[in-house]
Amino acid sequence: MTTIGDAGLRGTVAAAATRLAAAGVASPRYDAEELAAHVLGLPRSRLALVDRLPAAAAGRYAELVEQRAARVPLQHLTGVAGFRRLDLAVGPGVFVPRPETEVLVDWALAQVAQLRPGALVVDLCAGSGAVALAIADEASGVTVHAVEREEHALAWAARNVATTGLPVTLHRGDVADPALLAPLAGTVDLVTANPPYIPVGAAVEREVAEHDPPAALWGGEDGLDVVRVVERAAARLLRPGGLVAVEHADAQGKSVPAVFARAGWAEVADHPDLAGRPRFATARRLP
Ligand SMILES: C[S@@+](CC[C@H](N)C(=O)[O-])C[C@H]1O[C@@H](n2cnc3c(N)ncnc32)[C@H](O)[C@@H]1O
Repeated sequence: MTTIGDAGLRGTVAAAATRLAAAGVASPRYDAEELAAHVLGLPRSRLALVDRLPAAAAGRYAELVEQRAARVPLQHLTGVAGFRRLDLAVGPGVFVPRPETEVLVDWALAQVAQLRPGALVVDLCAGSGAVALAIADEASGVTVHAVEREEHALAWAARNVATTGLPVTLHRGDVADPALLAPLAGTVDLVTANPPYIPVGAAVEREVAEHDPPAALWGGEDGLDVVRVVERAAARLLRPGGLVAVEHADAQGKSVPAVFARAGWAEVADHPDLAGRPRFATARRLP
């Protein structure tokens, strides 16, 4: 068996990467390095400057590597998920923001740049607050509201709003509620959403199945249950001519746009992520 912690840092990290690879972790070397950087309190880019882990850190590192080998998400172990320019606090009870969602934010920012100053943005299914906070961070002069139904997720979002100091107003609410954000109805410029969209029964990785909250994952038999209520909510909230963007699974590049096309939206389009896979649909509320 490989012992983690009895060699120089380079050997320790290599042994950890071997352990993680054997456990089926998708990016073993990266995760081994990130965990080492975490116990040392350094950015990963500074690891090359360290000869070996101090004894206390070595013990902690070995524990974290075992947890990662048991498929606890890396971000739950470090407590942080990078999303665009932000380091967001995450852990049990909240969905770990994914890099794929960053392209939806790119699109949203490009739209916001063309809107009136003080544009009104609503992010539905907010989770950690990733999308709402990134828009508030990178767009100037926007007003951002974020809606989340689950209490635990909302607590993580509140923590991220507090630590970033970004101007996002959080609301606890259900996207399916016809009275959701009623005072804003018909006035919103842009609605974004990364809803749960996995069809019930689909296979997912252990990290996802065991650690992302079920409410963040499952979207009913065809995966589109929450997408359909997001479409209804966006229709109520947006002003005429307002825009909506909704993330979806690779296989939903036709079915999610169809939800909007059938409901009579204009300019329905689908967009790929950086890997070229269908990733989010957009549409404009008829003027
Ligand atoms: C896939 S996660 C996305 C979180 C975050 N927007 C992100 O991109 O990282 C979906 C989120 O939607 C929330 N959610 C699910 N159904 C909801 C509903 N009906 N109303 C409001 N939030 C809901 C879940 O609790 C979860 O936090």
